[in-house]
Order: sequence, then C-alpha cells, then structure tokens
Amino acid sequence: MSLMNWIDDRFPLTKVWQEHMAQYYAPKNFNIWYYFGSLALVVLVLQIVTGILLTMHYKPDADLAFASVEYIMRDVPAGWFIRYLHGVGSSMFFLMVYLHMFRAMLYGSHRNPRELIWLLGIVIYVALMAEAFFGYLLPWGNMSYWGAQVIVSLFGAIPWIGEPLAEWIRGDFVISDATLNRFFAFHVILLPLLLALLVYLHIVALHKVGSNNPDGIEIKKNKDKDGIPVDGIPFHPYYTVKDTFGVAVFMTVFLGIVFFVPELDGWFLEKDNFAPADILQTPPEIVPLWYLTPYYSILRAVTFEWLPGGAKLWGVIAMGAAIVMFFFLPWLDRAKVRSIRYRGWMYKTMLMLFAVDFVMLGYLGTVNPGHVNLVWFKNVTWAQIGLVIYFAFFLLMPIYTKLDRTKPEPDRVR
Ligand code: HEM
Repeated sequence: MSLMNWIDDRFPLTKVWQEHMAQYYAPKNFNIWYYFGSLALVVLVLQIVTGILLTMHYKPDADLAFASVEYIMRDVPAGWFIRYLHGVGSSMFFLMVYLHMFRAMLYGSHRNPRELIWLLGIVIYVALMAEAFFGYLLPWGNMSYWGAQVIVSLFGAIPWIGEPLAEWIRGDFVISDATLNRFFAFHVILLPLLLALLVYLHIVALHKVGSNNPDGIEIKKNKDKDGIPVDGIPFHPYYTVKDTFGVAVFMTVFLGIVFFVPELDGWFLEKDNFAPADILQTPPEIVPLWYLTPYYSILRAVTFEWLPGGAKLWGVIAMGAAIVMFFFLPWLDRAKVRSIRYRGWMYKTMLMLFAVDFVMLGYLGTVNPGHVNLVWFKNVTWAQIGLVIYFAFFLLMPIYTKLDRTKPEPDRVR
C-alpha cells in the first residue's frame, strides 16, 4: 500500500485536495484584481515567519526593547533583513488587503450569497488594524510611544467609564512597561491566532459558495452534463500557476523596497521612531502609519466643541462608524447587477469618488490639520469634506444603487 493510501485511510488528504484544489472550479475570467487574495495570504505567512525570527532577539521590556531592535539591526546576522521584511511586510499587507477589498466593491463580491465572506473579511481587516497597532509599540520608539498614548487615550472620551477603561488597557496611568508587555502578548500570539482562524473561515465560506468573477455572474448556474460549470476551470493547476506568477512579481517589488527604500521616506517607517520613547518629548506631529490615517483624519475632522460630550467623543464615534459602515455594505447595495461592468454611471461615479476620498483622507491624516497642503482650504476643512463624502457613499447607497440604470448581465462570462 502506498503512503498516500495509508494516509487517506486515516485522514482525508486526497479528498480535501480534490475538493479544494484539483476539482474546485473557479471562473475562467479572473483578472489582475484576483491576485490580491492569494498575495494577502502570502504576506500573512511571511509576517508570521519573520515575526517568529524577530521574537528570538527582541526583548519586551521598556528598558531593553529599543536597544534590542538596534541589536537586531546591527549585530544579528541578517537581522536587518528580517526586520525590514516584517516592517515593509505590514505596509504591503494593508496594500494587498485594500486592493482586495476594492476588487470586491468593483465586482459586487460582497453581495448575496457572499455576505459572510465579506463580513469575515471586515473582521479580518479590524483584527489586522489591531495587530498593526499593537506591533507598532514594540520597538519603543518615540512615535511608538506617543502613537499608543494618543490612541489609548481616545477611550478616555467615552462618558463615565472612559478614563478607568483607558487606564485598564494601559495597565498604568501612562503607556509603560506594563502596556508594552500586554501589547507584546497580543501582537505575537492573540491576534496572529485570531487572524489565522479568521482567514481559514474566510476561505471555507468562499469554497462553500464559490468565487465571484469580473462579470459578477454565477458560473454554477451553467453546468455541463457532468455537473461541472462550463465557465469554470480547475483551481489547480490553472490558478496555482497564475498565482505563482503573481507571487513572483509581488516579491520582486517587495524585495526591491526592502533592499533599496525600506523606510520609503517615512511612509513605511516613521523618522521619529528612530529615537527611543521619551515621556517628556512629544514628536512634532503624532501620526499613525499610512494605512490607519484615513480614520485618523475622520477623527480629527470633528472639531465642533459645541457637540454634546465634546468634539473628541464625536470624533471617536465618527471614526468607529466609518469602519462599521463596511459591515452593512452587502445590504446597502440594492443594484440588480453585481459587477461594475453592468452598473450605471451613479455607482461608478460614487465608487471612484469614494476611492479618491479614501486616499485623500489618508494623506490628510499625515499632515498638520491647520496647514494648507492641498488647494484652497486648510487640511482640516478638506478632511471635513472628505468625511461627508465618505459617509454619503454608504448612507446614500440604497438610493443611488436603486436609481442607477444598469445594463443586462450576459449569460456566460466574457
Ligand atoms: C488576511 C487578509 C485576507 C486574506 C489572506 C484573504 C484571502 C482571500 C482569498 C485567498 C480569496 C480567494 C481569492 C480571491 O478572490 O482573491 C478571498 C476572497 C474574498 N475576500 Fe478575502 N482575504 C483577506 C481579507 C479580506 C478582506 C479585508 C475583505 C473585505 C472585507 C475580503 C473579502 C473577500 C471577498 C468578498 C472574497 C470573494 C471574492 C470573489 O469571489 O470575487 N477579504 N480572500
């Protein structure tokens, strides 16, 4: 008896391989937008592997953390490479996830019957933001310290329980060694475990209903006499080969950044984080990394002190609501068709406006709200305009997707 038979008698290896790879039929018209799911998976694995290697030399102690990171950069063999892979990796992770989410919004992949894939995706996205936030404190640089201070103190804006809650999260009155220790625990074990579990569930949900595609039509509706979708091709070898090509291109770009511009002029590693945490010295501009700045902009856009409870409270509410909006997307979208190819001008315009708005908010979150960096208005005014566009995209969606004049969908993929 071959080894394979021996295993199959005890574990459904061949069955799982057939069901999820060799006989899993995916639409044959996947385009470039369909690379980002597998790339996000590759980055997840890379982050876990480089994270384990970093943990071997990093010290989660307020007195030792900063120096241990310098030690990794200078003395640990290839330590600089591992650290840059992990640091650049976090930015690339968000880039892949943002493109992956945008793809879903382009082709209506959030719509029935894929709502649960989408919802799990948003939970992954929130978990990823938490993972990045906890990880950012670990090098114990000055921006790590003050970034954590600002974000944790936001909880203080909640009426009554706010201050005790913020203190409970920190384990102290300020960010301290106690905070560093718990953030370390969250960053290296709790959230990676959660992310791995969520990604597994995301893919289980995907394989239950099958992939959507750039035409947004259901390939399962059109099967041949053997029950195989006529517009489907086996995931393996067709998409394993396609995805491998994607990984090769991605790694070329990724390693290019790691080797030549790992800090990307402060976008991937902030300049203020090259100085150790200093409780007496706030950085001139306290800003999170680019992937969190759209929400930071929304937080800072609410400047109206006359609001009951104060501007800070409403800023925090707006920021939370901005993320919560994504959960409702499958039900806000009322269009008859899924893909942007067959939608009318309204959804096309709103989606493009939203994408530009998200990037603008991201940029505004990195600059001083009182300065003028774009045209005409101060940054804070632009952020307020951005906030209105952001929420209009979601809240008006049931109206404009219903009014929009869609084109008929084809029967077969193009
Ligand atoms: C760690 C992060 C993530 C990983 C590793 C991941 C992985 C994947 C993979 C491998 C696929 C199948 C290939 C593809 O369609 O590209 C997929 C599909 C999908 N993902 Fe994700 N994903 C992640 C995050 C997200 C997020 C944040 C969202 C959005 C909220 C999301 C929404 C979707 C949807 C709607 C599909 C189905 C797409 C379709 O069939 O057209 N995913 N994901």
